[in-house]
Amino acid sequence: MHHVTLPDTRLAVHTRGSGLPLVLLHGFPLDHTMWAGQDPLADAVRLIVPDQRGFGASDGPPPESIAQLADDVVALLDALHVAEPAVVCGLSMGGYVAEHVAARHPDRVRAIVLVDTKLEADTPEARAARAKLAATVERVGQDAVAEAMIPNLLARSEAARANPARPLIEAHLRRTIHATSVETITTALAALAARPDMIERMRAVAAPVLLVVGEEDTITPPECMERAERVLQQPRLLIMPRCGHLAPLEDPATFNAAVLAFLGEVGAGAAGRTAAGR
Ligand code: MLT
Repeated sequence: MHHVTLPDTRLAVHTRGSGLPLVLLHGFPLDHTMWAGQDPLADAVRLIVPDQRGFGASDGPPPESIAQLADDVVALLDALHVAEPAVVCGLSMGGYVAEHVAARHPDRVRAIVLVDTKLEADTPEARAARAKLAATVERVGQDAVAEAMIPNLLARSEAARANPARPLIEAHLRRTIHATSVETITTALAALAARPDMIERMRAVAAPVLLVVGEEDTITPPECMERAERVLQQPRLLIMPRCGHLAPLEDPATFNAAVLAFLGEVGAGAAGRTAAGR
């Protein structure tokens, strides 16, 4: 983990491996550690896993918009001297950011992985729920977010609860949410609520897109990714059984295999060379 200075902030970033750049963008209100199970991907690619502004060990100010977070990704690639187009993968809020990177900076994107996310803007009800949560967080602190979110982040079926890693995952999420500042949480909630609908902009994106969603995701259920599949030019869709909103944490082996297969299929990086027998 090291810090990289951007024009108006400083991001903490974990980098490992070489070759095709693969950027992993965390969800709200988490940090880069949610991608620990993806570390083995560094055997095939150059992993770039930042804490987005305001989150984890990165400096603020907290994000004013999803577009700002997308521009941070490109500034980070520049600061790391990554000139070749990257694969940009994001979960939930990170997915919204990945969509904005693809729409705003298409020449920087080789392929996209959207995980447990959606293309649509918030409904008025979702916006109102975010405003209410922000007000509660102002009053009682991060506990409110942990209590409101953790039960919805993970799959609830008996089979999913039997995952031996489950207590560790829950404890990790609780720790991460507690470590996120109230200011970041409330500012990011406003940015999430204000994000635009991306359907038309994503329809225009030519890069291949892997869509991944937990079968038991209740925050962005499989229908969200099925709707995205109907809009995108080059989609592949994977619905992961026994997973909720955090599929890469809940079943890292299946997720990682899907990413490597996708990179092979689209001829990207080391995985592509292996798949093509070169
Ligand atoms: C996330 O996991 O990043 C959030 O659930 C995103 C959202 O609330 O839309």
